[in-house]
Order: sequence, then C-alpha cells, then structure tokens
Amino acid sequence: MNILLLGSGGREHAMAYKMVQSSITERLFVAPGNAGTAEIAVNVDISETDFQAIKTFVLKEGVNMVVVGPEVPLVKGIKDFFRDDDSLQHVAVIGPDAEGARLEGSKDFSKKFMKKYNVPTARYATFEKPQLKEAFAFLDTLKAPYVLKADGLAAGKGVLILNNKEEAKRELADMFGGKFGAASDKVVIEEFLDGIELSVFVLTDGDAYKILPEAKDYKRIGEGDTGLNTGGMGAVSPVHFADALFMEKVENQVINPTVKGLKAEGIDYQGFIFIGLMNVKGEPFVIEYNCRMGDPETEVVIPRLKSDLVGLFEHVANRTLSEADLEVSEHFATTVIAVSGGYPEAYKKGFEIKGLNEAQGKRNIVYHAGTTLSDDGKVLTNGGRVLASTGIGATLKDALNESYGALDKLEFDSLYFRKDIGKDLLA
Ligand code: AMP
Ligand code: GLY
Repeated sequence: MNILLLGSGGREHAMAYKMVQSSITERLFVAPGNAGTAEIAVNVDISETDFQAIKTFVLKEGVNMVVVGPEVPLVKGIKDFFRDDDSLQHVAVIGPDAEGARLEGSKDFSKKFMKKYNVPTARYATFEKPQLKEAFAFLDTLKAPYVLKADGLAAGKGVLILNNKEEAKRELADMFGGKFGAASDKVVIEEFLDGIELSVFVLTDGDAYKILPEAKDYKRIGEGDTGLNTGGMGAVSPVHFADALFMEKVENQVINPTVKGLKAEGIDYQGFIFIGLMNVKGEPFVIEYNCRMGDPETEVVIPRLKSDLVGLFEHVANRTLSEADLEVSEHFATTVIAVSGGYPEAYKKGFEIKGLNEAQGKRNIVYHAGTTLSDDGKVLTNGGRVLASTGIGATLKDALNESYGALDKLEFDSLYFRKDIGKDLLA
C-alpha cells in the first residue's frame, strides 16, 4: 500500500519510523515532513492544508491511505473533502471528519458533548462576546484559580489559568477583544481541577476501539513545571498511577461513553482520540479532547507498540478493529525534547545540528521535530522544538538514561532541554 502521512513534527517522524517497518507499506510519503522523515520516506513539499494539491498528488502516485498527524487539516475537513470527491473513494483517511474534529476544534462543543454523555469534567459555562457582564458574574461564583479557554483553535495557547480574579476579568475582556482572534469570540470558563495529568489515547473505527499506552506530558518550559506553557518538553510511558483500577474507571466513565456518544451523534469517527485527563484523588476528569495523537506523547507511545501500526490503520479503514490484536511492550519509553533557546517565545532557526549519528543507539531513537535539510545536506534547526530523544528501558531510570545519554551527544546553538523529565515518577 502507498501511504501519505501529513505533518512535520516529532509525532510524524515517530509514526513514519514505525510505518516503514510494516510489510504492508510499499511507499511512504510525508507532507511536508522534516529532515528525519526524509531519511526513511519521501518528503513531499505540499502544505498539510492544501487539499487540492494533496488530491492531485494522491491520484498521481496511487496513494491508498492518508494518515493525518496534526489537528488543523482535520478541523478544516480533509476527511469530508475526500469523502465528497468521486475520484477519491478508494482512499482511506485516518482521522475524523470536521464534525468529529470539533471535539478539539470547539471547547464549547466538547464540553456540551461531555455533559450530554455524562463524561466527568469540570463544571463550566460558555459566554459570547456581548455577555461580558454575565461572564463576570459567573467568575464571581468560582474560587481561584480561574480557568479561561478560547473556544476555537489557538495553537495550544488558548487556555489561561489565573490566580487572581481581577486579572481573570481583565484577561477575559482581552479574549473577547480579540486576544486569540475569532477563536476567543466564545470563551469557556470552568472550575479548576486539582490533580495530576495523564494523556490517554484511543484508536477507533467508529464502533470498536483500542486503548493505546498512556503517557505523561511535561508542558512547562522550566524544571519543576515552572515558566511558560509549551507544546510539551518531554513524556514518559507507562505512568504508574494509571493502574488497572484507574484505567477501568477511564474506560467505563470516559472512553466508552465518548465512543458511544460520537456514534449517537451520527459522527462517523475513524481515527485517534487523545483524552487529556486529570486524576483527582483517583477519579478521572476530562480536561480536553484532541482529534489526533499527542506530541511529544507519540514519541513514547508508538515505540511501545509491538503491533503493526499500518495493520491497525487498515482495520480502522475496514471497520474491523474488533478483530485486531494490540500488543504493547512492558518496557518504559521516555522522551526529552531539545528546543532552540528562547522557545516558546521568539527563537532562531537554521542552526546546524551535530552528533545525530553518534546519538543513535540500540535502545534509543532521536526523532526529528523542527528540522530541515540544507541544500548541501546538513541538518538544520527549523522550529522551536527541534529533536525528541527517546530512550527505551526495562525501568524508567534505564529509559531516562538512554534519553539523556543521547542528548549529551547532540549539539546545536542555544540547545536547551529539561533535566527533570520523569524524575517525579522515579520515587
Ligand atoms: P490545553 O492547552 O488545552 O492543553 O490546556 C492547557 C493546560 O491547562 C492543560 O494541560 C492543563 O494543565 C490545564 N488545564 C486546563 N483545564 C484545566 C482545569 N479545568 N483545571 C486545571 N487545569 C486545567
Ligand atoms: N502534548 C500535548 C499535545 O499534543 O497537545
């Protein structure tokens, strides 16, 4: 089978790395890809949201399956575009349609969905631009900290958590004033959940589902979870507090009602559901849904899959996922992200990366995130998050040693990484 994978981050390199190991894969294309995917697949210089160019390429190269990495093409309706085009009926798209992607694309939609299907989540209310007074009144009923969420996609920046009510009111007014463009014309205000976070991943064909390995993400730029929010600075899998009892609650109270609820809404969902959970004293609460895999979580989830990933995608496309076996390694996987100095604020691109060959070993993989190839074949930094150093080990400590050992061999100007990934889970 010929496959086109859309995206250009560490998530896509990790998926591509696994997909080329499948005997089902004949040719793998990645659009637009990065220097890492260029090594193992064919990069195609097409934007992941240029549906017309994607169609032309798919027809020309005989692509049978399109796997969508990031959320934006899904929210913009790539699945609908393929479904509605007579010449593309033979092409499977792994990812939900625009309606299903609203789980991520609209916080208000996802909160309403959770409420309707009794999925545990924080108490909330949604307000629109002209309702500033009512929104202030709702804030007055809550205790600090205050959680404000732009309804629409805001490149991971649309959630504000504020300790002070006056500040929360100022921020809310700014959001209605266009702080996140049209994404914050509507704002969800919700109760703060105090607990420990967990990322849970589900692959569904619309009826059956498989629960993939869980992961913990480290979101803040600074050690000890301090400083600005980022796309994610590291991840580990498995996570000890996601024990059998907790995961049973997650399956019964969250995953089952979510998959059934989608079906009841008439949403034909074939793809990943990423559930951001808060473990509050042993009870799961949903913070958010995403319609794709997490990044950097994919860089620890995929290396633990023993099953053929493309085989699983085929089952999703054929709606036979109930017949599939999901085999997961008992080993730990950890990933630590090397970023370019300044990230998540302004940073520079174009620094040469050295040590990539030396850093690769038997028990680690350096996935590329923001990288590109220069005309003379050098690997250059091309984003804030540059590399994901994944280690595998029988214990968490062994896996972390692999991740950090590889990082010591990597070099580029202003390279920064957190030294405390996974340390909170070692005790
Ligand atoms: P997001 O950008 O949607 O991933 O959300 C950013 C982060 O905000 C989440 O990962 C949580 O750490 C935090 N968060 C969101 N909602 C809540 C909530 N109701 N209570 C506590 N933390 C939250
Ligand atoms: N690591 C969080 C995300 O992918 O949204």
